[in-house]
Amino acid sequence: MLNVHDLCKSYGGARSRDVLRGVSLDVARGEYVAIVGESGVGKSTLLNLIAGLDTPDRGTIVLDGVELTALDDTARTLLRRSRMGFVFQAVHLLPHLTAAQNVALPLALNGTTPVAGARRVNEMLLAVGLAQAANAYPRELSGGEMQRIAIARALVHRPPLLLADEPTGNLDADSAAQVMRLMREQVKREGGAGILVTHSAAAAAGADRVLTLTADGLRPQAAQTNSDFRFA
Ligand SMILES: Nc1ncnc2c1ncn2[C@@H]1O[C@H](COP(=O)(O)OP(=O)(O)O)[C@@H](O)[C@H]1O
Ligand SMILES: [Mg+2]
Repeated sequence: MLNVHDLCKSYGGARSRDVLRGVSLDVARGEYVAIVGESGVGKSTLLNLIAGLDTPDRGTIVLDGVELTALDDTARTLLRRSRMGFVFQAVHLLPHLTAAQNVALPLALNGTTPVAGARRVNEMLLAVGLAQAANAYPRELSGGEMQRIAIARALVHRPPLLLADEPTGNLDADSAAQVMRLMREQVKREGGAGILVTHSAAAAAGADRVLTLTADGLRPQAAQTNSDFRFA
């Protein structure tokens, strides 16, 4: 479903260096993949390229047969809005909108009216266990609750691809575990694919496949026992 081939990216300027040097990745529909790696290795860079938020120096990204890397900015933005969902470490809920209004945003951006979208918004709030918080504002929610709202928002428009960048970075262990479980459950339930980027091996434990990003590219991670976690 997602085919990333030979992606290269370097940043210019005084500290110019190659961040990604020929990264390739294939993700199948329904698959939930974790990408781990040390801080600064280029995980966010890779995710932003897949999201079309930035463009690679070389290489191709194909989502469901559409080559992202061949699209102009406008076409890429439209594709991102309709076919992708995002969860970030900094939750990015809009403070002046209620939980339900935040969840509804991707529907609105894709042209669904609030009335038509209401049932779907409720369904997602229920799925993340926060139906009772529909009318609450972000400041009235805990960090874990905000991140669960962000998951509902990321999946409300049924995107084929969910991208998550360190989604549990600011959470305590219990909330983090709950958020990870929910994200996996929802990706599987909605039938999409998910890519989770994290420096935490514990967070990656629920993935179907764990890949490690190093300066030499993405490598499958050998099966590990809990005591072997290097990035926890
Ligand atoms: N916009 C940018 N301009 C210049 N350098 C950047 C930019 N974004 C990231 N970098 C550099 O690229 C490297 C990889 O960053 P990043 O992808 O954020 O790593 P990770 O998410 O794995 O911690 C880092 O050395 C970072 O300083
Ligand atoms: Mg990062």
